[in-house]
Amino acid sequence: MVHVVFAIPFAMENTLRFARAAASLPGVRLSVVSQDQPEKFPADFRAQIVDFELVRDALVADQLAAGVQTLAARQGPVERLLGVLEPLQEPMAAVRERLRIRGMDAPTARNFRDKAHMKEVFRAHDLPCARHELCANVEQARAFASRVGFPLVGKPPAGAGSKATARCDDLPSLLAFLQQTRPAPGREVLLEEFVLGREFSFDTATLHGQHVFHNVCCYYPTPLEVMENPWIQWAVVLPQQIDGPEFADIHRVGPRALAALGMWTGMSHMEWFRRSNGSIAIGEVAARPPGAQFMTLMSHVTGVDLYRAFAELMVFETWTPLQRRAAAGCAYLRGQGATGKPGAVVRALHGVDAVQRELGDLVVEARLPVLGKPPNSSYEGDGFVIVRHPDTRVVTQAVQHVVANVRVELA
Ligand SMILES: Nc1ncnc2c1ncn2[C@@H]1O[C@H](COP(=O)(O)OP(=O)(O)O)[C@@H](O)[C@H]1O
Ligand SMILES: [Mg+2]
Repeated sequence: MVHVVFAIPFAMENTLRFARAAASLPGVRLSVVSQDQPEKFPADFRAQIVDFELVRDALVADQLAAGVQTLAARQGPVERLLGVLEPLQEPMAAVRERLRIRGMDAPTARNFRDKAHMKEVFRAHDLPCARHELCANVEQARAFASRVGFPLVGKPPAGAGSKATARCDDLPSLLAFLQQTRPAPGREVLLEEFVLGREFSFDTATLHGQHVFHNVCCYYPTPLEVMENPWIQWAVVLPQQIDGPEFADIHRVGPRALAALGMWTGMSHMEWFRRSNGSIAIGEVAARPPGAQFMTLMSHVTGVDLYRAFAELMVFETWTPLQRRAAAGCAYLRGQGATGKPGAVVRALHGVDAVQRELGDLVVEARLPVLGKPPNSSYEGDGFVIVRHPDTRVVTQAVQHVVANVRVELA
């Protein structure tokens, strides 16, 4: 039996889906470290695990390490430490090093987490990415702006979910961004050349340094545009075929970028841009499986449960080749009309029945926003509709139909 610890700081449905897959692997005994009380976890999940350790903050390496050690003392040596949240990747790597658990080490985790450092690695390997500078003060930021020109993007060096990320079109908007973020030595902000173009993901699996799987998602539009425009509902499409010339560059560059950052065994979520002149630039890479339903979408494309494939990859270090059988897409339903207003809740859903009738069997999964609930601030919104069809064009039209016709009214 293999003793695996899953770090689940918060009992969130998405993380639980991964943990359930790991717990159900033959020969695996799964323990959990969490800062949520065990009662927050569904009873059927608790029945799947062998042990549970509560810590105050599971994102802090010392506390995570103590939790893992306690589980090791009770259940035997820990052979894998897994977790899918972005801010867990560095603390987990530190704990693995300290307790000699096989898996990604701390310097590699930092390559994926520190966006400025990541771009330096790319530059050193001649991999295309936006020009950047870590700025500790206004003078440095102005100097970068006069070198690179506008527009620029400002962001925290280790952010997530497009939070605190802003497009600066001119000097006043850059100064306003700096006024808000107040950079200082040790609290730098990352400025980047704004890559004008379309955005995509490149989601991958690597086994013992070999690139064994990739997927492309096309974003409609970019996450930053969605965040900046509260009326936009985001959509993504995973084409049935991704071997065509439009993706040749990322197939060449993506695996090289992962090798440069030190990916050995695991899944990753890369974001990349195609400029109107045809050139590409890598945005960032996360050393974890993608979020935002992408694992579910890839499962619909391949007909294989990607959550289980990830668990097998991480625990047994095996990967079964996958085929693309269909295209899939997701429309993210997002509350409109009162975003950011204190006390706003989802008041009504419009257009759902008609869209359901029109799309029929194309819809393979959906979660509708719950009436009376406060809206989510992220670009993933408050619900989603997933469609699947062998023809990529049918899927693209279907998600566009959903975002154009379903309206989530807030009040
Ligand atoms: N250099 C850039 N040029 C153009 N758009 C960018 C750039 N950097 C970030 N963005 C936009 O902002 C979003 C969030 O930035 P990202 O670096 O991916 O941070 P996060 O960790 O928040 O996802 C991206 O998905 C993209 O839409
Ligand atoms: Mg991102």
